[in-house]
Amino acid sequence: MLTGEDKKLLQQTWGKLGGAEEEVGADALWRMFHSYPPTKTYFPHFDMSQGSDQVRGHGKKVMAALSNAVKNLDNLSQALSELSNLHAYNLRVDPVNFKFLSQCLQVTLATRLGKEYSPEVHSAVDKFMSAVASVLAEKYR
Ligand code: HEM
Repeated sequence: MLTGEDKKLLQQTWGKLGGAEEEVGADALWRMFHSYPPTKTYFPHFDMSQGSDQVRGHGKKVMAALSNAVKNLDNLSQALSELSNLHAYNLRVDPVNFKFLSQCLQVTLATRLGKEYSPEVHSAVDKFMSAVASVLAEKYR
């Protein structure tokens, strides 16, 4: 459950990314593909070299969705409803993978924000990504 303080920290943290969403998203994906190679099987049509147009383009889409979610923290189910359908019915992504992306995004944010990625921010991002993952996985039930 996100507290009011978590929500404030998430909005502040996203504010600090100003304009770097594509880079952040691409770095998180790149880390996921490296650290959890089976995740690559969902993207057989992608050029997997670092900084490829596809990895960057996809990073941008994922971060745009997360930024939209940060703007709709009280309404996540609705904000992510279409993506939830897509991941469950069309892409059939095994929900275990959402944790991998969450973890990789946290490392990306930590390396980028340094000391500003405080334990409080870490905890808020962790809760947020768990909430996003449970919405993306809710259609599997
Ligand atoms: C597509 C978001 C996790 C696999 C997408 C798209 C978005 C998105 C915005 C593009 C939808 C469109 O083009 O309309 C997210 C978010 C995630 C997440 C917010 C979790 C935080 C994952 C994970 C995997 C995955 C963990 C698999 C390991 C895919 C695939 C596509 C896709 C295969 C289609 C890519 C393409 O062909 O262009 N996702 N995603 N997603 N996602 Fe996710």
